[in-house]
Amino acid sequence: MKLVVLGAGGRLGAALIREFRPKHEVVGFNHAQLDLSNLESVREELSATTFDVLVNAAAFTNVDACETERDRAFRINAEAPGVLAEICNEKDAKLIHFSTDYVFDGQKRAPYTEDDQANPISAYGESKLAGERNVLAAGDEHLVVRVSWVFGPDRPSFVDAMIKRAQQDEKIDAISDKFSTPTYTHDIANMLPQFFDRGVAGGVLHFANAGECTWQEYAQWALDCCRDAGISLKARTVGTLKLSDMTNWVARRPVYSVLSSAKYAQLTGTPPRTWRQAVADYITRSYSKK
Ligand SMILES: NC(=O)c1ccc[n+]([C@@H]2O[C@H](COP(=O)([O-])OP(=O)(O)OC[C@H]3O[C@@H](n4cnc5c(N)ncnc54)[C@H](OP(=O)(O)O)[C@@H]3O)[C@@H](O)[C@H]2O)c1
Repeated sequence: MKLVVLGAGGRLGAALIREFRPKHEVVGFNHAQLDLSNLESVREELSATTFDVLVNAAAFTNVDACETERDRAFRINAEAPGVLAEICNEKDAKLIHFSTDYVFDGQKRAPYTEDDQANPISAYGESKLAGERNVLAAGDEHLVVRVSWVFGPDRPSFVDAMIKRAQQDEKIDAISDKFSTPTYTHDIANMLPQFFDRGVAGGVLHFANAGECTWQEYAQWALDCCRDAGISLKARTVGTLKLSDMTNWVARRPVYSVLSSAKYAQLTGTPPRTWRQAVADYITRSYSKK
């Protein structure tokens, strides 16, 4: 399989390239090498490249900045994925495009399935939903993978910020009234190859580690894992913050955006491991050696 991965400098894209390289021929493009807001150069560059699968892990992911830069958000997150799908059609290649739990409004209190109505409440979510629709309008053999709370070693995320704060301060806190599921880039890299074949599972697919939690529970578990791994921290417990305390946020965010991976489990026969197992594994791999 010859793969092209966009977003090579990002948390997910970098992980996918690192994990796919031993088994596949992989070409990665980072932001500087391929700017998704310049559709002409995207067409030119990718038309000259041969591949069977194009993985798009590039996106304008700053949720607050998307509110103030709507045009840019729609160009990168909506228009560009549609063009990528058209390029794939010309090459008989499959597009695997990443999307987000933020396409939902968060009103539900049970995991969102692929059949649930998307109803974004932010410009980021709107632009990502428009991107999904553009991809699938170009061809229903393409795959849109919605993920949530992505973490991994290639770019710091919430969990790394909390561990760093716990190393520096005795008192730390995190939001305790917003729910989703942390998802490890390593697990995404393991699940994805099952879908490389153009004939396998097009449409929308949810993938997250199993279970659900608040940011406070997520951070507390990370600290507990660090303690078990002998990593010295100043803070032992994570205090609670409320969503209403986040007065500096520009964009609205869904309160509940847990993704159901039931369809994935049914398609593959293998449910994802729990988020607690995934976070524990990450801390062992990435922090224990430091
Ligand atoms: N992180 C999460 O918690 C999360 C949750 C749900 C869904 N997702 C989705 O998962 C995917 C991967 O996200 P991630 O966590 O890896 O985010 P990330 O670390 O922010 O990576 C996104 C990458 O896209 C690049 N990029 C931004 N604008 C671009 C442009 N115009 N042209 C080309 N590249 C551009 C960024 O480069 P620069 O840094 O140089 O701008 C960055 O390397 C995205 O589709 C995102 O929507 C992520």
